[in-house]
Amino acid sequence: MADRIVAPKSDIARVSHVSSFAQYERLYQAALTDPAQFWSECAQRVTWFHPFDCVTSQNFAKAEVAWFLGGKLNASFNCVDRHLATRGDQTAVLWVGDEPGTYRHISYRELHEQVCRLANVLRAYGVNKGDRVCIYLPMIPDAVYAMLACARIGAVHSVVFAGFSAQSLRDRIVDADCRVVLTANEGMRGGKTIPLKQTVDEAIANLPVHTVLVSQRTEAMVPMRVGRDRWLADEMPKQRAYCPVEWMDSEDALFVLYTSGSTGKPKGQLHTTGGYLVYAAYTHELVFDWRPGDIHFCAADVGWVTGHSYIVYGPLCNGATTVLFESTPLYPDASRYWQVIDDIQATIFYTAPTALRALLRFGDEPVKKYQRTSLRVLGSVGEPINPEVWQWYHDVVGDKRCAVVDTWWQTETGGILISALPGATPCKPGSATFPLPGVQPVLVDEQGKELLGNGVSGNLCLASSWPGQARTILNDHARFQQTYFAMYPGLYFTGDGCRRDEDGYYWITGRVDDVLNVAGHRLGTAEIESALVSHAYCAEAAVVGFPHELKGQGIYAYVIAGKSADGVSTADIVAALKQAVRKVISPIATPDRIQVVAGLPKTRSGKIMRRILRKIAEGNYGELGDITTLAEPAVVEQIVQGHQAAKWPTG
Ligand code: WTA
Repeated sequence: MADRIVAPKSDIARVSHVSSFAQYERLYQAALTDPAQFWSECAQRVTWFHPFDCVTSQNFAKAEVAWFLGGKLNASFNCVDRHLATRGDQTAVLWVGDEPGTYRHISYRELHEQVCRLANVLRAYGVNKGDRVCIYLPMIPDAVYAMLACARIGAVHSVVFAGFSAQSLRDRIVDADCRVVLTANEGMRGGKTIPLKQTVDEAIANLPVHTVLVSQRTEAMVPMRVGRDRWLADEMPKQRAYCPVEWMDSEDALFVLYTSGSTGKPKGQLHTTGGYLVYAAYTHELVFDWRPGDIHFCAADVGWVTGHSYIVYGPLCNGATTVLFESTPLYPDASRYWQVIDDIQATIFYTAPTALRALLRFGDEPVKKYQRTSLRVLGSVGEPINPEVWQWYHDVVGDKRCAVVDTWWQTETGGILISALPGATPCKPGSATFPLPGVQPVLVDEQGKELLGNGVSGNLCLASSWPGQARTILNDHARFQQTYFAMYPGLYFTGDGCRRDEDGYYWITGRVDDVLNVAGHRLGTAEIESALVSHAYCAEAAVVGFPHELKGQGIYAYVIAGKSADGVSTADIVAALKQAVRKVISPIATPDRIQVVAGLPKTRSGKIMRRILRKIAEGNYGELGDITTLAEPAVVEQIVQGHQAAKWPTG
């Protein structure tokens, strides 16, 4: 059956940056024919203190790419200072607090003042150009000030999502060798408080962190270690509201952001200044069809790349009003997003399919209670969006008036690579549609042979660089090269599977490596396994994903109990292991299902056959394939019986 096509709305097309599919195709061709010219023009959207003399140099074999070489700029200047003359009084950051009705408008002028003061605080505590600073803050304006303050003085921020455990935070602080940490006494989310300072105290015990700067989000008193911990509210007023910007080389580091891969240790993706900023600003304008006056509401957290690119750097570089949303889609009820949208007259809204699936369960009524007439563009990110959810987003949330853009990208890509454009692209619900101008996707088979033409499925790669591409993994370039460039020589490998249909539309089918995508969060199976075996009750663990109605993927853990678990009930083992994962990684990594097993299916060389475990977790016992080559084929039958006996709910 032919896929349904949703045409671009004519009143959006009339005024959008790219207003027809033919125009998109022309742009795409232009970028393909003369990339240097295309990107050079694109780079003019940012202010350079000194122009670049070479657009790009690329060597995928060595995993080396660079953009806008010789250029000098500063990201903080581009996101703040350059707007002062024309937009000083415009709201730069619109903070939406956890409690309904809490709003704060921060103008570009105020943003400038706060960023400068905080930059001076950092300097006063010894932060220099190139130093890494850890930001473990909730969704409060200080988080934005902190990122831009680092950028201002050339320090490299490492934002750690404030839902990560002390252990995860510690690993990231150690890996990046951060000596200064910014946090808050507590966070607020969905009416609950989160003990952030306490987590930091635990994380940095015996580490060489010399300064902890603490925002005061709640009234709670927290222990402050003399000589190390300082209240930001005491420090900022002491500093001048002016701080000169550091002239950064285009290829100087801007930030590091950790993400999960298929091995245990999270990877610190390093992004540099010129290319990242140009790409974030370019894609923000093009994909969301941003224009002056828009209220851009991206509901992500600054702890993820979506928050970096589409709450902070992209929108602010373009001089937008960007929303910082502290709460959750369900607090105090399933109307929260729509209520906020009406209150602040948001024109652009960007969220993850997992949030939409959760809201869809409450039906249309919580949406329809609000007008939503301000909305024009609706975006989706983080995981494949089910066609039914896409349709609901379009029909109900967007009242069939708004453009829906499903945006595919990764922490490594810095910005969106494949997406519809609001006024130009006829959409197929569930497909991210087409690559942006300047982006060259390639599908390859297992052997690395390029799959040409349409109607093909394979592994998604990119044939050449784009400015927003991560440059390396902090402290581990070999791993960077190995992970992304070794598998298919000459190509960047994304780790995603993808289908290009008969009409050339791209459909991302999910990860092909041992990475799970749980409620839009990226988690490595190896990370979760190592958290499980850190508990004495667990001798061995194998983790796979299974289809989950709300989260997209759920986490299924098969564990072999350790000696210490002798005499302990299965329920207690399961509870203890869940707790262990929460503590070692984060509540977001808690396995949904844990099955205690006597053995795991392994090849004779000892490799765990995850393919079999995946099928069992899905309940597809009939598709286990050939198991005769296993060391002990009998374990499979036992595991199947255990799975059946557990009677997990279906769907
Ligand atoms: C998945 C988030 C389908 C994909 C920006 C990718 C998607 C991983 C989409 C990156 C989408 C992201 N459709 N899948 N629109 N967007 N993904 O690094 O598997 O947290 O590789 O970046 O999320 O996750 P990350």
